[in-house]
Amino acid sequence: MRLIFLTFCLLISTNTISAGRTIDIPAPPASLAQWYPPVAKRLVWLHNMFKLRRELQAVAEYARLKDQPRMNKWARQFDMHYRKIGEMVPEWKSELDMDGAQRLASATESGDFSAARQAVRKLNQSCRGCHRDYRAIVTLLYRTPDFSKQTINAGPDGKTRYKKHMEMLATEINRIKIAMVDERPKAALNAFNMLSTGINQLAESCANCHKQTRIGKNYFDADLQAMLKKLGSAIQSGDQRQSGMALGEVAVSACSHCHGTHRVLYDLKQLTK
Ligand code: HEC
Ligand code: HEC
Ligand code: HEC
Repeated sequence: MRLIFLTFCLLISTNTISAGRTIDIPAPPASLAQWYPPVAKRLVWLHNMFKLRRELQAVAEYARLKDQPRMNKWARQFDMHYRKIGEMVPEWKSELDMDGAQRLASATESGDFSAARQAVRKLNQSCRGCHRDYRAIVTLLYRTPDFSKQTINAGPDGKTRYKKHMEMLATEINRIKIAMVDERPKAALNAFNMLSTGINQLAESCANCHKQTRIGKNYFDADLQAMLKKLGSAIQSGDQRQSGMALGEVAVSACSHCHGTHRVLYDLKQLTK
């Protein structure tokens, strides 16, 4: 049932969306939550999805190779995992193309390769309706990391809230810019030191979640370090133009890239609460 709607109020206006218009996005059934952490240990729902795509691909490939036993084996697995959608989330049973699943089962069992390939094509199309309505919102609700309780090892107690640390970083960036424009290099240098320390502390916090990956280290990589060094020297020599350019580079590398993933999704997620 698509009766519950989340309302997203758009505050900015663009060519196609005018200010004050609301966007309705259907909310997935609550029963989906049990197939995602923290209720489930793994991303059970998502892994079932990956299986579906692989199984349909296998059926199509063995149909092309005219290998009936293998085609049939994968088709049976597909059938089981496709039905699982409705077992896991009963509200979504109506989204399933059970006639299509039946046609695939008959075609693969009787070894009708061309009918099997046609059934695969049809079934692939049947996935789209649910994906169009729900895929993005489900990723947002169940897989987007929550930064509200994240802290950064900074400040007097070593537990600065993410948001507070972010505000500090933005303040220091603007302080650098203001002080350079007004020819106060000492103030700019102070702000630069605060910014560098703050970026360093931020980099350590990536490992709170990115345990196995090298994202934390990749974030504060040689390029970013070189850019910061360049910014520091430009400030020291009082070069407004150079420091302005270096500041822009630092902001893109140290802030915008991560915002593109984490802030956009996190901000959207907050709107759904
Ligand atoms: C009733 C709804 C529904 C149906 C039907 C459905 N899916 Fe999905 N699918 C989802 C949702 C919701 C997600 C997003 C899951 C997430 O991000 O954790 C998803 C994500 C996926 C993904 C992972 C994202 C990607 O594209 O890389 C794959 C693969 C996938 N589905 C395959 C399929 C296939 C193949 C079918 C049809 C045979 C299918 N799905 C039918 C709801 C559905
Ligand atoms: C609260 C946990 C959390 C923190 C803290 C965190 N991340 Fe992530 N990040 C994730 C998760 C989870 C994903 C994977 C998202 C997905 O697959 O949907 C991710 C994905 C990413 C991605 C995109 C995917 C990739 O692997 O390239 C980038 C870039 C990224 N994080 C950068 C950072 C940086 C830089 C920091 C530190 C400044 C950071 N993250 C801190 C949880 C976190
Ligand atoms: C993890 C990757 C990540 C990196 C790297 C990052 N940010 Fe953020 N930023 C976030 C997230 C997540 C939020 C939302 C936090 C919240 O609202 O609790 C945010 C929010 C902000 C905000 C809004 C705070 C508010 O008052 O709502 C500002 C300003 C900001 N960041 C500035 C910066 C600056 C400047 C840098 C670079 C020096 C930076 N950020 C680097 C993830 C990142």
